Amino acid sequence: MKRLQDRITLVTGSSSGIGAAVAKCMAAEGAKVIVNYARSSKGAEAVVAEIKAEGGEAIAIQADVSQEDQVQSMFAQIFEHYGTIDVLVNNAGLQKDANLVDMTLEQWNQVIGVNLTGQFLCSREAVKEFKRRGVIPAQSCSAGNIICMSSVHEVIPWAGHCNYAASKGGVMLLMKSMAQELAPDKIRINSIAPGAIKTPINTDAWDTPAAEADLLKLIPYGRVGIPEDIGKAAVWLASDESEYVQGTTIFVDGGMTLYPGFATGG
Ligand SMILES: NC(=O)c1ccc[n+]([C@@H]2O[C@H](COP(=O)([O-])OP(=O)(O)OC[C@H]3O[C@@H](n4cnc5c(N)ncnc54)[C@H](OP(=O)(O)O)[C@@H]3O)[C@@H](O)[C@H]2O)c1
Repeated sequence: MKRLQDRITLVTGSSSGIGAAVAKCMAAEGAKVIVNYARSSKGAEAVVAEIKAEGGEAIAIQADVSQEDQVQSMFAQIFEHYGTIDVLVNNAGLQKDANLVDMTLEQWNQVIGVNLTGQFLCSREAVKEFKRRGVIPAQSCSAGNIICMSSVHEVIPWAGHCNYAASKGGVMLLMKSMAQELAPDKIRINSIAPGAIKTPINTDAWDTPAAEADLLKLIPYGRVGIPEDIGKAAVWLASDESEYVQGTTIFVDGGMTLYPGFATGG
């Protein structure tokens, strides 16, 4: 048996980057994956095709996670196709960067809407189903599993990115509060906080040797992360191997949160 055999798994924003890697790693462990996307249907179809080429199972569903009606429609489609859901990975996210005084309300609302409200809306629909169905002991010791994609910026302030840092700080306490509320129902909820991972969201930070050298000053482990680093952690968190892990953030960041500026004595 693979670690996630036949687990119905929704990965939001999995047409690209970290979400795509999480979807592929989950499928390689036997999960049936729903590849959600907002605009990139080609990216989503490519991920589905790659999973199928490896012998896995996946479908793509379009939905903007910041819109309540679209989230509800996505879950209705999942229930129609698979009957239930076992794992939700709240991964969809974006940046709209500006210094505080230049930040428009639209930039603020868009980032909070996708990165934070989107996680609330998807979690609410998943939890309704987890509670309805309960634990099926032959499949898993939990009644459902949610992984929230946070960021090192749930704890590291980030000048020029107030909307993004606020959204990830919000994800931290959304995750912990949901985990506290739902632990008695055997619903497991945790976060992954990636450091700097090479994806389209942050190309400027690593696509030239000078930019990468600058970035590496912040990473004690000495390399920029790749999406598979997050995929592997997500598989473990979704599996029963991590049964007793509840309401915590796993930092997958090459040591970025270790205050590297103090490495030489401060
Ligand atoms: N890369 C990093 O270094 C890093 C570090 C820390 C945390 N993270 C977090 O990791 C997550 C994934 O980021 P990434 O680096 O993989 O970025 P990415 O390559 O830009 O991928 C973002 C994904 O989110 C989807 N998305 C955007 N808006 C959406 C919406 N309204 N509804 C549904 N899906 C939407 C995109 O789909 P469409 O293209 O179809 O819109 C895409 O699949 C984000 O939550 C991000 O904050 C990334």
